Amino acid sequence: MLKTVRIINKGLKGDITIPADKSISHRAVMFSAIAHGECQINNFSSGADCHSTLNIFKHLGTDIRFIDEKTLIINSNGKLKPSEVALDAGNSGTTTRLISGILAGQNFDSVIIGDNSLSKRPMKRIIEPLSLMGAKIESTNGCVPLKIYGTQLNGIEYSSQLSSAQVKSCILLAGLNASGKTTYHEPFLSRNHTEILLHYLGADIRVNKNSVIVYPSELTAKDIDVVGDISSAAFFIAAGLIVPNSSFVIKNVGINPTRSGIIDVVKRMQGEIYIRNTREVSGEQCADIMVCYTNNLKGCTIEGEDIPRLIDELPIIAVLASQAYGQTIVKNAEDLRNKESDRINCLVRELSKIGINITETPDGFVIEGKTKIKGDAELESYHDHRLAMSFYVAGLIAEKEIAINGFEWTNISFPEFEKLFAKLIAGGN
Ligand code: S3P
Repeated sequence: MLKTVRIINKGLKGDITIPADKSISHRAVMFSAIAHGECQINNFSSGADCHSTLNIFKHLGTDIRFIDEKTLIINSNGKLKPSEVALDAGNSGTTTRLISGILAGQNFDSVIIGDNSLSKRPMKRIIEPLSLMGAKIESTNGCVPLKIYGTQLNGIEYSSQLSSAQVKSCILLAGLNASGKTTYHEPFLSRNHTEILLHYLGADIRVNKNSVIVYPSELTAKDIDVVGDISSAAFFIAAGLIVPNSSFVIKNVGINPTRSGIIDVVKRMQGEIYIRNTREVSGEQCADIMVCYTNNLKGCTIEGEDIPRLIDELPIIAVLASQAYGQTIVKNAEDLRNKESDRINCLVRELSKIGINITETPDGFVIEGKTKIKGDAELESYHDHRLAMSFYVAGLIAEKEIAINGFEWTNISFPEFEKLFAKLIAGGN
């Protein structure tokens, strides 16, 4: 689908509520499916990725019922059954990597398949540590399809080279069902939703800085309220800062410190952002965020421990940085090349088409601001939801219209994206 973006002159105003966090929605279903008892999950993500996870657990025999579009009941005796069909993870790396940790320790075999993009993403990062635990996994050149031969696993101590929450979660989930303790170390702290939710559901899990220990544990089902997704809010935060005359509130945003790098970067860039009404929801921190147009944003350097805290926000940060004075440098983000697309190369290629001064580096990019966004171009989304949404935000302030090819890929994480922008645009008129 080719989407032409409307250019906004009058600012974005009003308030919006951000839909459910994708990472937490995946985990809510997976962990409830292996927990004992019945629970209700409120505010579940309507994105296609989380529905891939839901469908997989239906095939694995979990009793899942919807009360309404975003509320579901899961009832489980803690056990999964073999699926009669291959488990289709669609576009979702999180689904694939996390369920591999669960399936490797079952007493049955499973096959995981996915779409073209998922079939190119690296799975050795989970196969290697799972194999050290005794898992038997066949891959297709290190990618899906994966054939997982369920077996009894043993706990390990593992130091990962990557700061990846998907790898960490995979090993912790395998550790729940292994013999003995499992210890996982990572260079920088990646998102810790797995640790928080496993603790909330009663697992014996202990965290010390960048290390986690999990003991074999049974989980007890408990109702889960999913907070709003800061990675979705990021598009609105950026738009509020760069569309002149904007000021609005984004409600119910998860601000877990392992995810809130975008807020720190905006502050470093001297953007007007205010965090209000901070509260805790199912173990996660949540707040309302007010954002206002800022004419004098400053470029900054983003590197090291920042990266896992804003890995999914780097495409929209590139658009934001194009409207900041001076240079913005992103380093140590080479894993961006392994996302739904090669996000470094695709971002640089497409943003260059609309006049943004962006240069590719092996592990990131450099942007020279402040540039006018020329528009009058068709941008390719490469079937990548976050690229499509980032280009949309650039289009709001372009001099001439931008069209985005493959805009429907936004449904992977955020089907409500355009509707929420329409609300803020109407508020500005
Ligand atoms: C996720 C972890 C991150 C992130 C992805 C979701 C998760 O991936 O990019 O969108 O839910 O654990 P990596 O762990 O591969 O960095």
